[in-house]
Amino acid sequence: MVRANAAYSFHDLNPESGRFLDDVIDGLSHPQKSLPPKYFYDAQGCALFEAICGLPEYYLTRAEIALMQAHVGDMARHLGPGCVLIEYGSGSARKTRILIAATGPAAYVPIDIARAELNATAAEITREFPQVRVVAICADYSHPIALPDLEGLGARRRIVYFPGSTIGNLTPAEATAFLAGVRAQLGAGGGILIGVDLKKDPARLDSAYNDARGVTAAFNLNLLARINRELGADFDLSAFRHRAFYDAASGRIEMHLESVKAQEVRIGGRSIRFRKGETIHTENSYKYSVREFQDLAAAAGLAPVECWMDPDRLFGVHYLVVQ
Ligand code: AVI
Repeated sequence: MVRANAAYSFHDLNPESGRFLDDVIDGLSHPQKSLPPKYFYDAQGCALFEAICGLPEYYLTRAEIALMQAHVGDMARHLGPGCVLIEYGSGSARKTRILIAATGPAAYVPIDIARAELNATAAEITREFPQVRVVAICADYSHPIALPDLEGLGARRRIVYFPGSTIGNLTPAEATAFLAGVRAQLGAGGGILIGVDLKKDPARLDSAYNDARGVTAAFNLNLLARINRELGADFDLSAFRHRAFYDAASGRIEMHLESVKAQEVRIGGRSIRFRKGETIHTENSYKYSVREFQDLAAAAGLAPVECWMDPDRLFGVHYLVVQ
């Protein structure tokens, strides 16, 4: 479906049509039960994620915004004016506004699975930056997506913006494949500006994903609440608890939902059994040193140009170009 006016068009690639139940049943049918993290982001999940971004323990958002504010002039010089700015996982686009104001792209292409938030954000950007053409795409970018025709936007080059360390929610193999797909979309002369959380003291990481107010726990448990709401399942939320820990060997935070007792849950006419202590793996959040991330990007055909970091070396924003 496409809705359009001169400044704004919305392309709905129907990212979740019919797959939620199949993905849930499939994920809960393996010896290590799992659920895809993309399903965190219904309206309540988006609101909880926004709340996480403001938590004192969750340093990622603050560090990245401060980096954008400090270095956006430099970034804009690399990107140049008049580009097509394509953002994967645009969400509320808080950091993007800083980039758009400094860079002056010809067009902005936000891509997100969360339809309502995408619509609201794209409409806001259209109002705030009337000179920028907005082409919103509702899609699940964990699978390759065909972008609508972006020629004709009068742009000099394509730049992908992928902030928030969302790349860390993919395994390194998935991240390499994703970046290779991005490289193919960028074409000659294109570049990617990408936020990547850095390796650091495990205690700091642990507290970022186990906040004192329990917002991350509510975000994690909302996945089960969403399955109840949308698929008529009967998860008892009080019989599962949030667990998050840093695994140094793989360099990732793992999030799980642990069954506090032996129980059975009904979903879509099926019965799923849980042992006491058994977990559903809901998310990975990989952390990379600058070098590790540059190596991963090189395997996807992207060459490093610059990496901006905060003084405490909590977070990095990399600019890489098509080799
Ligand atoms: C979206 N993503 C980068 C967040 C992260 O830090 O991995 C999601 C999140 N999970 C728990 N807290 C935040």
